[in-house]
Amino acid sequence: MSTKEDLINYDADEMIKQDIDCLWHHLTQHKAFQDREPMVIVEGDGLILKDIRGREYLDAVSGGVWCVNVGYGRESIAEVVYEQLKRMPYYAGTAGNIPTIRFANKLLSLLPRLDKAYFSNSGSEANEKAYKMIRQGFRLKYPDKNKFKILYRDRDYHGTTIAALSSSGQKERREGFGPFVDGFIEFPHACCYRCAFDKTYPGCDIECARVVEEIIEREGPDTVGGLIVEPITAGGGIIPPVQEYYTILQDILRKYDVLLIMDEVVNGFGRTGKMFGHQHYDVDPDIITLAKGLASAYLPLSATAVKKEVFDIFINDPADKMSYFRDISTYGGCAAACAAALESTRIIEDENLCENSRIVGDYMLESLEELREFSVVGDVRGRGLFAGIELVKDKGTKEPASEDFLGGIVADIAAHGVLVGKTSRSLPGLNNTLNLAPALIATKDQIDQIVDAIKKAIEKAGKSVF
Ligand SMILES: Cc1ncc(COP(=O)(O)O)c(C=O)c1O
Repeated sequence: MSTKEDLINYDADEMIKQDIDCLWHHLTQHKAFQDREPMVIVEGDGLILKDIRGREYLDAVSGGVWCVNVGYGRESIAEVVYEQLKRMPYYAGTAGNIPTIRFANKLLSLLPRLDKAYFSNSGSEANEKAYKMIRQGFRLKYPDKNKFKILYRDRDYHGTTIAALSSSGQKERREGFGPFVDGFIEFPHACCYRCAFDKTYPGCDIECARVVEEIIEREGPDTVGGLIVEPITAGGGIIPPVQEYYTILQDILRKYDVLLIMDEVVNGFGRTGKMFGHQHYDVDPDIITLAKGLASAYLPLSATAVKKEVFDIFINDPADKMSYFRDISTYGGCAAACAAALESTRIIEDENLCENSRIVGDYMLESLEELREFSVVGDVRGRGLFAGIELVKDKGTKEPASEDFLGGIVADIAAHGVLVGKTSRSLPGLNNTLNLAPALIATKDQIDQIVDAIKKAIEKAGKSVF
């Protein structure tokens, strides 16, 4: 039998057995498979997934980790990938190739204030590239300073590799993996529902942004090179900062010549109702990192896009052999992945999916607002097709519901045929937010189905079981 046939002809029991025997699942305690089968996904179309037992689900988190932005079953993406693989599968990123050149051009046309795109394979890697650009770049620019430190925000996540994890404000995600890389400094989150300063907007003077100036002064401005944030925090609990937040933050960063990296890995490519999450704010990032929706996860691809001022630091006399950006990524910007990204982006534009994300997203948020009538629903937050529902034991004290309680709710929603996400072993005592990020093609009917399943699960869980 050919490999092609193997992909579509299989014995379900045998596949499950081999899965348990051979495959190490991400973020999974394998002992659980003594009591239950692993989920094996075999087909997808639009928002609908089918598992190996023939069960169908409405996927409300775009591939589990908010990335299949254009939905499943896009043959046109498969076709461009096939054409490109036949023509030329690979050559190193020291050379250009047609889809990579075209996609860099397309990406920068969508981000007109940025000037160069550097490709890699994952969100973690895109962020690592940004850190390396800042460390090496500032050493070239200011040989007498050492602006190597990067500030990161509590509750934000920037990836799984050690430097990306060193810059992630999710203590449970980090646990067990230290020691971490030097030079990554945390600053407070921007979640109004649990204000780090016990204040209330708008009387708070946006202290969560202003405090960054004190931190830069404390660390020493000549040692701080960058600050990374997700425009709207994703895995840390879907947190859109207030409108003035980024303007204040950027003014501080400019004063100290600190570069602003915006991690659009989740927000980017329509998720929040605009092409990029930062476009909701008056802010002008120096570096933007992208992955996930970049190629709608049809193939792995990430990008670190930078302003001319950043790129130009690396334009020097070729005789100085150390002054170009000395970084490589074997698969970064692979031809077929860029072809997939070009086609995914064409779909987002031609089908007006940012607009759909905004309109259907507003509808989703309005429908979720109604859940506030339940005693366990403490807060509802989001933008576009990107929303979080924070569950609490007590609305008055805001005591968070337990992660087990959320686990039960998520399982019950799945039993109603809908897959939703949750903050998962990320924030100690605060893994209490359900996450929604359906594909950008979602319809209002599908949103009704998702909200209805959540409502039923919360009703079933009752008021007292935590
Ligand atoms: C905001 C953000 N940045 C970076 C990453 C890391 O991306 P990857 O898993 O592709 O390395 C993630 C992953 O979920 C993310 O949510």
